[in-house]
Amino acid sequence: MTLLVTGGAGFIGSNFVLDWFGQSDEQIVNLDALTYAGNLHNLDALRGDARHVFVQGDIGDRALVDRLLAEYRPRAIVNFAAESHVDRSIHGPGEFMRTNVLGTFALLEAARGYWGALEANAKSAFRFLHVSTDEVYGSLAPGAPAFTETHPYEPNSPYSASKAASDHLVRAWHHTYGLPVLTTNCSNNYGPYHFPEKLIPLMIVNALAGKPLPVYGDGMQVRDWLYVGDHCSAIRTVLAKGKVGETYNVGGWNEKPNIEIVRTVCTLLDELRPSAEGSYARLISYVKDRPGHDRRYAIDARKIERELGWRPAETFDTGIRKTVQWYLDHADWVAGVQSGGYRDWVARNYAAR
Ligand code: NAD
Ligand code: TYD
Repeated sequence: MTLLVTGGAGFIGSNFVLDWFGQSDEQIVNLDALTYAGNLHNLDALRGDARHVFVQGDIGDRALVDRLLAEYRPRAIVNFAAESHVDRSIHGPGEFMRTNVLGTFALLEAARGYWGALEANAKSAFRFLHVSTDEVYGSLAPGAPAFTETHPYEPNSPYSASKAASDHLVRAWHHTYGLPVLTTNCSNNYGPYHFPEKLIPLMIVNALAGKPLPVYGDGMQVRDWLYVGDHCSAIRTVLAKGKVGETYNVGGWNEKPNIEIVRTVCTLLDELRPSAEGSYARLISYVKDRPGHDRRYAIDARKIERELGWRPAETFDTGIRKTVQWYLDHADWVAGVQSGGYRDWVARNYAAR
């Protein structure tokens, strides 16, 4: 048995692949374009492991995906591949449309062709699991109920609009063609291998370098944070037990304003790697807000708990401590991803703030 995982060299995808082999010997074919966000070092632990087949390529490359499907005959596709950073989508939305919308379209078409020709048992067992985000639902007012699976789609950024479009395609390929799809809409993840353009790893690496900690606007935007290992277990659960055609919201029951997250990171670093110059909180610096910045996301994850029995295992306290410790222990990984391209991005996003 084999899974085709796309985007498995990125943050969540690589955690998923590593996690998978902790539980199963089932082969994974990992298709990843290795954009700036893809990093084969995340998968160093799998060097020489025959269960993992890495293929560098684009989900939008129909000929390649057709060939991989024909050769490896996967029982499921798990689609992580995407452009994933809101700020980058504001600076350059084109790549988001190309990968998130057109790439998903091409992958769905390849899956449809492959699935349509499977024999009856394999056909009924096949799954296309699409990994999506809570950002498709838009922004919540303070005190408004958390997003359920039936909340209207109201995406506000080029990133969330492109993910919403991909979710709609996945839905339509089920309703029109019968493709056995599953969709997960998850809140903000954090944990090992998180690229330091996103809030939590950026704050850790900037603090350790004695650089300012840039908090957008008033820092009171609220996100729900989920430890990445819990997202991986949710995806495994949905893949195994999810009802075809359904969507499942995945969250950590852990809403927090950004400034609180940043202060928590500072407090942990003060404990684990104290600075002679005083608390890292001295580096907090309020900067110009993100255009169109969503004020609040919150996930109602009762459906996945009720129907599939999944709940997060980590609390924020345990997850954030592990995460900060991981970055302290993996200075080489951090140095490796801070390439010229990374420095160009930091200059582009923060210079005018
Ligand atoms: P990431 O940016 O860290 O990784 C994306 C991966 O996809 C990279 O390895 C990249 O090389 C690969 N990729 C990009 N374009 C590709 C293409 N055209 N073909 C093949 N591979 C390509 O992203 P992530 O944070 O790991 O997110 C993974 C998925 O989970 C995304 O679909 C994202 O929308 C979704 N998601 C992320 C979060 C979060 O907090 N990070 C939360 C909910 C959902
Ligand atoms: P991010 O990690 O980019 O995830 P998303 O935008 O997908 O939620 O940002 C999380 C929150 O942190 C978001 O409200 C924007 C804010 N933020 C900052 O305040 N400063 C920063 O430098 C970054 C990258 C994000």
